[in-house]
Amino acid sequence: MPRTTTIALVGVHGYGTVHLDNLRRLGDRVRLVAAADPRPPALGALPEHTRVFADLPALLAATDDIDVVIVATPLHTHLELARTVVGRGIDLYLEKPPVLTLADLRVLQEAAATSGARVQVGFQSLGSRALRAFAEDRFDLGPIRAIGAVGLWATRPRVLGAQPVGRAPQARRRRRRRRGHDQPARPRHRHRPRDRRNDSCRRHHTGHRRPLPCQCHRGR
Ligand SMILES: NC(=O)c1ccc[n+]([C@@H]2O[C@H](COP(=O)([O-])OP(=O)(O)OC[C@H]3O[C@@H](n4cnc5c(N)ncnc54)[C@H](O)[C@@H]3O)[C@@H](O)[C@H]2O)c1
Repeated sequence: MPRTTTIALVGVHGYGTVHLDNLRRLGDRVRLVAAADPRPPALGALPEHTRVFADLPALLAATDDIDVVIVATPLHTHLELARTVVGRGIDLYLEKPPVLTLADLRVLQEAAATSGARVQVGFQSLGSRALRAFAEDRFDLGPIRAIGAVGLWATRPRVLGAQPVGRAPQARRRRRRRRGHDQPARPRHRHRPRDRRNDSCRRHHTGHRRPLPCQCHRGR
């Protein structure tokens, strides 16, 4: 029977609650021996046997049977907490993003290499069971020839410069007309001083006998 892994959780609110759920799901394979957070956990949020501390140093001073510390605190606290954990030779699960700068990451790498502690950062695929499943060809795909990645994200249309739904120019004009304060279209050359007009504008404005369609009067 596999040995129970002892865990300490730093940061019990916010994303820490997801870790609490996951630890619960792992049942007897893990034991949450201690937690640290300046904000005490809600009643019943932790197992009864879990000891609660206000900070990590107090937790480490009072507990010596920890295999893994999970750090799920805000980013600016990561480096200090992470160094404290690996400095004690304890394996660390550090929430993403690991630290603020590349220089900080090197500091953490060195600290881990010195003590021999292992560090895993949340939100990365190397710890995923999917990787092993692919390596063992459990999806019956045959030999792997290449590995690619596809990213997908969504953002509000305004960010990409598109018109938000229901706010197309014609809809805006219709709304203005309904409200009864539609104005005649404004000339479009406000931004373009007379002497900087391009050739077609110059021909238009100087009464050229064959004026070209002019950018600044388009749509009037
Ligand atoms: N993997 C993911 O999908 C995912 C999703 C959301 C957040 N996160 C990461 O989780 C981490 C926490 O994010 P959050 O939104 O829960 O933050 P949060 O601001 O809600 O803080 C989480 C908890 O940490 C505690 N805390 C703060 N400083 C502490 C300290 N020095 N020692 C002990 N506890 C401390 C806070 O009191 C709080 O209970 C961040 O690194 C964030 O990027 C990861």
